[in-house]
Amino acid sequence: MKPQKSTAMNSSSLTISLQWLLSLIFLIIFPTCATATPSKLPRLSTILRESETFSELISEDFQTFFYNQTLDHFNYRPESYYTFQQRYVMNFKYWGGANASAPIFAYLGAEAALDSALTGVGFLVDNALQFKALLVYIEHRYYGQSIPFGSREEALKNASTRGYFNSAQAIADYAEVLEYIKKKLLAENSPVIVIGGSYGGMLASWFRLKYPHVALGALASSAPILYFDDITPQNGYYSIVTKDFREASESCYSTIRESWSEIDRVASEPNGLSILSKKFNTCAELNKSYELKDYLETMYAVAAQYNHPPKYPVTMVCGGIDGAPEGSDILSRIFAGVVAYRGNRSCYNTSVNPTETSEGWRWQTCSEMVMPIGRGDNDTMFPPSPFNLTTFIQGCTSLYDVPPRPHWITSYYGGHDIKLILHRFASNIIFSNGLRDPYSSAGVLKNISLTVLAIHTVNGSHCLDILPANSTDPEWLIMQRRTEVEIIESWITQYYADLDATRKRTMFEY
Ligand SMILES: *[C@@H]1O[C@H](CO)[C@@H](O)[C@H](O)[C@H]1NC(C)=O
Ligand SMILES: *[C@@H]1O[C@H](CO)[C@@H](O)[C@H](O)[C@H]1NC(C)=O
Ligand SMILES: *[C@@H]1O[C@H](CO)[C@@H](O)[C@H](O)[C@H]1NC(C)=O
Ligand SMILES: *[C@@H]1O[C@H](CO)[C@@H](O)[C@H](O)[C@H]1NC(C)=O
Ligand SMILES: *[C@@H]1O[C@H](CO)[C@@H](O)[C@H](O)[C@H]1NC(C)=O
Ligand SMILES: *[C@@H]1O[C@H](CO)[C@@H](O)[C@H](O)[C@H]1NC(C)=O
Ligand SMILES: *[C@@H]1O[C@H](CO)[C@@H](O)[C@H](O)[C@H]1NC(C)=O
Ligand SMILES: *[C@@H]1O[C@H](CO)[C@@H](O)[C@H](O)[C@H]1NC(C)=O
Ligand SMILES: *[C@@H]1O[C@H](CO)[C@@H](O)[C@H](O)[C@H]1NC(C)=O
Ligand SMILES: *[C@@H]1O[C@H](CO)[C@@H](O)[C@H](O)[C@H]1NC(C)=O
Ligand SMILES: *[C@@H]1O[C@H](CO)[C@@H](O)[C@H](O)[C@H]1NC(C)=O
Repeated sequence: MKPQKSTAMNSSSLTISLQWLLSLIFLIIFPTCATATPSKLPRLSTILRESETFSELISEDFQTFFYNQTLDHFNYRPESYYTFQQRYVMNFKYWGGANASAPIFAYLGAEAALDSALTGVGFLVDNALQFKALLVYIEHRYYGQSIPFGSREEALKNASTRGYFNSAQAIADYAEVLEYIKKKLLAENSPVIVIGGSYGGMLASWFRLKYPHVALGALASSAPILYFDDITPQNGYYSIVTKDFREASESCYSTIRESWSEIDRVASEPNGLSILSKKFNTCAELNKSYELKDYLETMYAVAAQYNHPPKYPVTMVCGGIDGAPEGSDILSRIFAGVVAYRGNRSCYNTSVNPTETSEGWRWQTCSEMVMPIGRGDNDTMFPPSPFNLTTFIQGCTSLYDVPPRPHWITSYYGGHDIKLILHRFASNIIFSNGLRDPYSSAGVLKNISLTVLAIHTVNGSHCLDILPANSTDPEWLIMQRRTEVEIIESWITQYYADLDATRKRTMFEY
């Protein structure tokens, strides 16, 4: 069954659930760091082209390799031994070498092809010289060029082939690749720091908990590891979107809040959809008012999540809404916000093509990464849209033939009572967040122990700290990154002392 919007409209009983599921899933596509806009926007092509050009420029430093990865790490049936080619990229330019036990920075891939991370995740290159670090970037299975079963179509074809597509397999892949690299470079004593953002940030923190013998520490940027089960209130995400808009402008916030019922009112008039299509200059005639509402909702969420300096997209949207000519009606103001954010275009495209990220992430959220994100009555600036697990399970089962396992993440990785559980067990994890990022509602925002630390900024956005440093960066962002670097330095210093002590003791004992 192909997950498309047209399918969602065939059967009325499924309409609500699938429509709801799709709109939810579009939102969770965005736990992506490298792109400032979601993949569904036409602007994607520009970003891709930019990074391709940049990759050509730096291709001498970045070398691509493939590892023969095991399909299934967790059992011993013959088909588990199938392999696929997993892509990883290394940059040796700054490395101090194995003899010096110089560190390895490993970027753990997330729900996208690896390419954009090479330029988009600046933290590794920006700090490589200071640490004399080897840089390794590993692609997540089922994305980019790291696809089992020969092709993406085959790999996502049925419930059996999709079954190997999960986070536990992915971090086991990373462990194998890193151990292989260390062995091959005779760098067994080089400490590894794993780095990831968003979903990749979750993987980085979980990797440190599960594979302490492979990674000395983790930098987990904007990792919403507490958005599972009932740990975080459902409306955490949209409450922060709402707060961001309200802080930017009270009148902008009220206009948005009032606009939904106004859209419904106009849509219910004769020719209402046609009026809305003209008002919002949509490329295609609207068929349902939710097409417009989804479009706007996504725009506000993306603006809040990627509310980066120096442009601050929330401020851009509100500048349009508040700056509309005196006496403009609500919908004209909302449209002025669209134009301010998207630019003056010949028309505004509300449709979305599926991408490998949206398709892959939809499976992941429908199997194990079940994040109950919803909204109640009047608790955000958006219309209510509660998360209903029953409906969610029905929708996912009809899409994929297997039901989600909504509690597996907390069984396998934990999350409940995180401070109580981790403060005597875990070490060397940085949970970094920007509190204007809606996903920070489910981030770790309190220090857990002396080395499991929460480093956040009041005005930061999604994954901001691991994006490339820029001369326009505000002081608080420079400070956040500096703190993170100092913490990682202290882990490595401690590790070298431990390593020396172990070596001396070994010499003494034998
Ligand atoms: C990976 O597998 C292919 C095909 O089985 C083989 O030709 C190749 O030598 C293997 N590469 C490594 C590094 O083991
Ligand atoms: C590293 O150490 C080994 C053994 O001591 C030595 O043979 C080799 O030349 C050293 N390599 C470098 C690059 O210094
Ligand atoms: C899924 O596809 C694989 C590979 O083509 C095939 O071997 C298998 O029988 C299929 N499984 C199901 C349950 O359809
Ligand atoms: C409305 O439906 C038509 C036909 O399915 C489609 O081509 C068009 O893109 C839809 N409009 C929007 C705004 O999605
Ligand atoms: C947008 O573009 C149109 C035609 O390209 C132009 O007439 C209009 O003035 C522009 N609006 C703004 C606000 O720049
Ligand atoms: C709108 O976007 C869809 C999906 O990306 C694309 O197929 C379509 O061609 C676009 N329409 C226009 C008029 O740009
Ligand atoms: C919704 O919230 C707004 C602002 O917080 C308040 O003015 C309004 O009375 C509330 N409406 C309902 C129906 O609770
Ligand atoms: C969830 O949806 C189901 C089926 O549509 C409905 O029966 C149930 O009451 C809903 N649960 C909640 C908590 O709203
Ligand atoms: C956690 O501890 C670090 C290091 O002492 C400090 O920089 C940071 O501000 C603390 N975080 C919080 C949320 O208190
Ligand atoms: C955050 O930004 C607001 C303006 O949007 C500013 O007033 C405030 O001082 C900033 N806070 C910090 C800690 O930088
Ligand atoms: C810094 O940011 C500006 C504005 O976002 C951008 O145009 C510029 O290319 C960036 N510079 C570097 C060195 O990345």
